[in-house]
Amino acid sequence: MRLNDCHNFQDFRELARRRLPGPIFNYIDGAADDEVTYRKNTSSFEAVDLVPDVLRGVADIDMSVTVMGQKLETPFYCSPTALQRLFHHKGEKAVGAAASKFGTMFGCSSLGTTSLEELRKTYDTPQAYQFYFHKDRGLNRAMLSRAKDSGVDVMMLTVDTITGGNRERDLRTGFSIPMRLTLGGMAQFALKPAWGVNYMLHEKFRLPQLEEHVDMSEGAVSIGKYFSEMLDQSMDWDDVAEMVRQWDGQFCLKGVMSVEDARRAVDIGCTGIILSNHGGRQLDGSRTPFDQLGEIVDAVGDKIDVLMDSGVQRGTHVLKALAMGAKAVGVGRAYLYPLAAAGQPGVERALSLLRAEIERDMKLMGVRTIAELSRDKLRTAHALAA
Ligand code: FNR
Ligand code: LAC
Repeated sequence: MRLNDCHNFQDFRELARRRLPGPIFNYIDGAADDEVTYRKNTSSFEAVDLVPDVLRGVADIDMSVTVMGQKLETPFYCSPTALQRLFHHKGEKAVGAAASKFGTMFGCSSLGTTSLEELRKTYDTPQAYQFYFHKDRGLNRAMLSRAKDSGVDVMMLTVDTITGGNRERDLRTGFSIPMRLTLGGMAQFALKPAWGVNYMLHEKFRLPQLEEHVDMSEGAVSIGKYFSEMLDQSMDWDDVAEMVRQWDGQFCLKGVMSVEDARRAVDIGCTGIILSNHGGRQLDGSRTPFDQLGEIVDAVGDKIDVLMDSGVQRGTHVLKALAMGAKAVGVGRAYLYPLAAAGQPGVERALSLLRAEIERDMKLMGVRTIAELSRDKLRTAHALAA
């Protein structure tokens, strides 16, 4: 199986599965508890149908959107994800380069393996910095001013990781940073020697956002431990209001799910919220962002940009979210498997396929611009006419 054989999300997933050592693949592919929310994220799109219009003159399509002051050439963006150097030796650089080619936003994670400054200098497409709020307030202040000085466009504070999700696949393999594998986990690495050679021959693994502040040499810092021990569980709305004031720019909360929280985000001056359940990796059994979208757009959609991520695999998923009222849609695994499968060409192929699907589907829907997508283009399967 080669990159050109990949035509959709599942194909990229399969190629990534073949290339990555099991513990790394399962870190990307896994989610919390029984992974119910993870599965539901994608299937929730199936509960709503698109109702196309025809004969609308759709020769020219414009799928650009403007969110949080950023013009994006595509209505999807690459949501920030951790540890990309483990998935491919070019890591965040491959994703930043691909996002720039498509004129869309990408995010740099607090747990990113390339520095936010290097990314900002190299790619001139909109860049978000994903912030984790640490117990160490000095670290938080330093991070905020680093991001400001570097010229990051959007501050994205993740609020659904107040403690680590229960990711049982990682418990089984011992996935942690640095690696502290279980015997079974180690055996799985031995099965993928090509990954190992590639990993050793390229730049050293680093966490440049954190390395001046966090000592990673003292044994394994598992992702769960990072969340549970280093992040500040006492973080509340006052802390965030203070951060919003300090940042004084585009600021969004990633992981808001309730109407009340959406209203609070407006009250403290956020310019965006991202409905997300972290791709099912945190609270299993939580509602899906797509199911929750209508309610939140109705409550705050005229006051703040509402975005969503989690479960998006297809162009029609993006269109359904936009028709429901989202301003843009984030993808995670939809670019991570391609990154693992083939680096930058992989990510570019995935973004290109998603863009082509959206263009084709907009034509089939009879809409020329994203603004023409509205809720009257959606129906639920069971809503019977009165
Ligand atoms: C993530 N996500 C994430 N989110 C975040 O705010 N900071 C981070 O460091 C990471 N890291 C991360 C690693 C991996 C391997 C995955 C799969 C996800 C969550 C991510 O930004 C996004 O919310 C989800 O991936 C969306 O769900 P889908 O598109 O993967 O279904
Ligand atoms: C994850 C983190 C790092 O989901 O956000 O693994």
